Amino acid sequence: MSGVNDIRSTFLDYFKKNGHEIVSSSPLVPRNDPTLMFTNAGMVQFKNVFTGLESRPYSTATTSQKCVRAGGKHNDLDNVGYTARHLTFFEMLGNFSFGDYFKERAIELAWKLVTEGFDLPKHRLLVTVYSEDEEAATLWKKIAGFSDDKIIRIPTSDNFWQMGDTGPCGPCSEIFIDQGEHVWGGPPGSPEEDGDRFLEFWNLVFMQFDQTAPGERTPLPKPSIDTGMGLERMACVLQGVGSVFETDLFRNLISATEDVVGAKAEGDQAASFRVIADHLRSSAFLIADGVLPSNEGRGYVLRRIMRRAMRHMQLLGAREPLMYRLLPTLVQEMGRAYPELVRAEALTSETLKLEETRFRKTLDRGLTLLSDATQDLSKGDSLDGETAFKLYDTYGFPLDLTQDALRARGIGVDIMGFNDAMQRQKAEARASWAGSGDKATETIWFELKEKHGATEFLGYDTETAEGVVQALVRDGASVEAVTAGETVQVVVNQTPFYGESGGQMGDTGVITTDHARLEVTDTQKKGEGLFVHSAQVVSGTLKAGEAVMLAVDHGRRSQLRSNHSATHLLHEALREVLGSHVAQKGSLVAPERLRFDISHPKPMSGEELRRVEEMANAIVIQNAPVSTRLMSVDDAIAEGAMALFGEKYGDEVRVVSMGTAIAGEKSGKPYSIELCGGTHVNATGDIGLVRILGESAVGAGVRRVEAVTGAAALAYLAEQDERVKTLASALKVQPGEVVSRVEALVEERRKLERELAETKRRLAMGGSQGGGASEVREVAGTKYLGKVLEGIDARDLKGLADEGKASLGSGVVTLVGVSADGKASAVVAVTEDLTGRFSAVDLVRIASAALGGKGGGGRPDMAQAGGPDGSKAKDAVEAVAGALGA
Ligand code: ALA
Repeated sequence: MSGVNDIRSTFLDYFKKNGHEIVSSSPLVPRNDPTLMFTNAGMVQFKNVFTGLESRPYSTATTSQKCVRAGGKHNDLDNVGYTARHLTFFEMLGNFSFGDYFKERAIELAWKLVTEGFDLPKHRLLVTVYSEDEEAATLWKKIAGFSDDKIIRIPTSDNFWQMGDTGPCGPCSEIFIDQGEHVWGGPPGSPEEDGDRFLEFWNLVFMQFDQTAPGERTPLPKPSIDTGMGLERMACVLQGVGSVFETDLFRNLISATEDVVGAKAEGDQAASFRVIADHLRSSAFLIADGVLPSNEGRGYVLRRIMRRAMRHMQLLGAREPLMYRLLPTLVQEMGRAYPELVRAEALTSETLKLEETRFRKTLDRGLTLLSDATQDLSKGDSLDGETAFKLYDTYGFPLDLTQDALRARGIGVDIMGFNDAMQRQKAEARASWAGSGDKATETIWFELKEKHGATEFLGYDTETAEGVVQALVRDGASVEAVTAGETVQVVVNQTPFYGESGGQMGDTGVITTDHARLEVTDTQKKGEGLFVHSAQVVSGTLKAGEAVMLAVDHGRRSQLRSNHSATHLLHEALREVLGSHVAQKGSLVAPERLRFDISHPKPMSGEELRRVEEMANAIVIQNAPVSTRLMSVDDAIAEGAMALFGEKYGDEVRVVSMGTAIAGEKSGKPYSIELCGGTHVNATGDIGLVRILGESAVGAGVRRVEAVTGAAALAYLAEQDERVKTLASALKVQPGEVVSRVEALVEERRKLERELAETKRRLAMGGSQGGGASEVREVAGTKYLGKVLEGIDARDLKGLADEGKASLGSGVVTLVGVSADGKASAVVAVTEDLTGRFSAVDLVRIASAALGGKGGGGRPDMAQAGGPDGSKAKDAVEAVAGALGA
């Protein structure tokens, strides 16, 4: 019953039996607290429940919470490996009362579990209470029957628990076990308290206040309970071992390490094994919760942890990346209780391998530099800050790694010198960018970046988060506060808002506090690492330094995700259909549609577009998970990831893969692999549907494909469908028959047009005999056929004039056609025998003049002209007749 997994379930089951709701662990990156680096206690997820801001459907709860104490207020990083009980990652078992029970019931429940559930001998137990909390002391006497010497009153902050600089807090009472005289150490409050003999394993916090600012406390709405039992410590106690590293879980991790490095966890080397086992756990859990190694914020803490473990690997003789080979053991030990470890196993493995490969490149040289620089130093000396900075800057040694490396020799590091060197380097960097022609308006972002560091982007995992306002910029200058009606650019320490990049538009949404509301209209990246929210203050006042709630517009972001993932599918499909010359030339991922430009020399055919669409939709239907990994650029490209030529990528890149190729040489492998920092759907099925709207040219050799997805694609199709239905009903056929019906109608129309033209012609010329006798007269001995033809096009006139000539045998023909819009055109034809006397060109000019026009042209036997005034058609006919007689 004393294995780690059994202890966890015994605890949770016990509190469940006592009416508590079992609640899952929250992620290590707190969603509800911008000031906290990592979740460091079970109560973090309930912070707002204690203060009354949030309500839950239960008033008591129990959890087994993942915690990391590295960086921030509770930081155990430096102690790990050198004490029997410190860990950077641990599980905290806890029970909580949100205004339900208080001190007495909390102590009762704890006492019963410890002495009955876990069967610990009462005579080895003792407790501390806050010296001002006499009530707690009295209750312990009553419930546990403790004599006064078992209740130690502590006047320091050790017995007043605070989550961080702000948040719920209260006096606490800790339960200790005496591990026996053979272990060095004294009871809490004694000079030997740092020894391991008296081990604290459970802390009961009597939550009574909310710390709103340093020195400012307000009472909670109702007194509450928050407790935390270190699972690993309890395992130590129950398994009768002196150190958490001797418990079942750690023994297994350490023995896996022994196998992998081929050394034994003994003597001086033992600490390295402990560091590696602990750091492997914190690294794997952090990566599973979305943190990836970087040089900023949480990512840097992770990098420090990883590199520290890697240096210890090196001390144990590792000459190649090995950390990742320990991962399967960890997943086997903890994957059942924390399925996220299993889900993230591939990502974690690759991330560990990549980091270790990269770090190994400089590790040996860094260690040589370190040993050269310290060979003349002895215990009590310090390494100069300049060298420590060089190790940091050139060899990638985080400061605490250098400190850790010198610790065994009792050598410190000149931290002030290190900070000075760092400042100097920043000043140089500033001088170089200030002088490089950046626009003055942009300098503010570089200054803010330098002052506050890069914005941490949380938006891969969440759409809402809290952040602290670091700067408010109005009209290019920092301001302390903004009020309703003003437009402002907001910089926070962390944000779920995506800053426009890689073609994907920035997020919109809201930023709120209790007393202010801002609408974010856009988010852009500035100053190499800042996410800048452009916002309109809708109500209230917002001040720099305040904590805010940031919420991305969910619907819009979902569409962006879907459109972005669809561009990846289209990209691959376009290459398959058109050929591998296809390269991405640009893209726009907007909420309502997507645009994808490619290099391709000619228009795409309808058939090509259809095949591209079909392929993309085949992957949508697979509903395959979309996976994101962090890799080196070289590895990513070796794996076949599509990168944009000329794009600047960092050392590490996010690689997004989706779908499984079903045919071709990639069959069975990921369908699409791209380097991409954008946000994507979880599974391809979330895209719903891809619909290509069309393709067009945007420049020489560049084609643009436009498409819609999801609801927009459905709306587009519904609209098309509606159109077909309307057509069908107008044509009085079934929708399926529309096409053949329209084809038949077009053919019929063609036929009718031909017939109509023929009929008009015949009518115009006065019946089937051609030129009717009635219009033929003699003018000065010449036969003259003069006629006005309503509704006959100019292009038909010449043919009719030829017919006229033929019917006359010898003579002159004038035909004036009047079109529907009242314009006239005239044709004059002269039979061959008369061209010596009359020129058709001269005659048509006369007709044209009568029609209000000018000119005309042709040959002596046939000429044509136009004129604006059709009402003068008859005059034109007569004018020509007049000319024949002249
Ligand atoms: N929140 C308390 C702690 O972390 C229980 O010790």
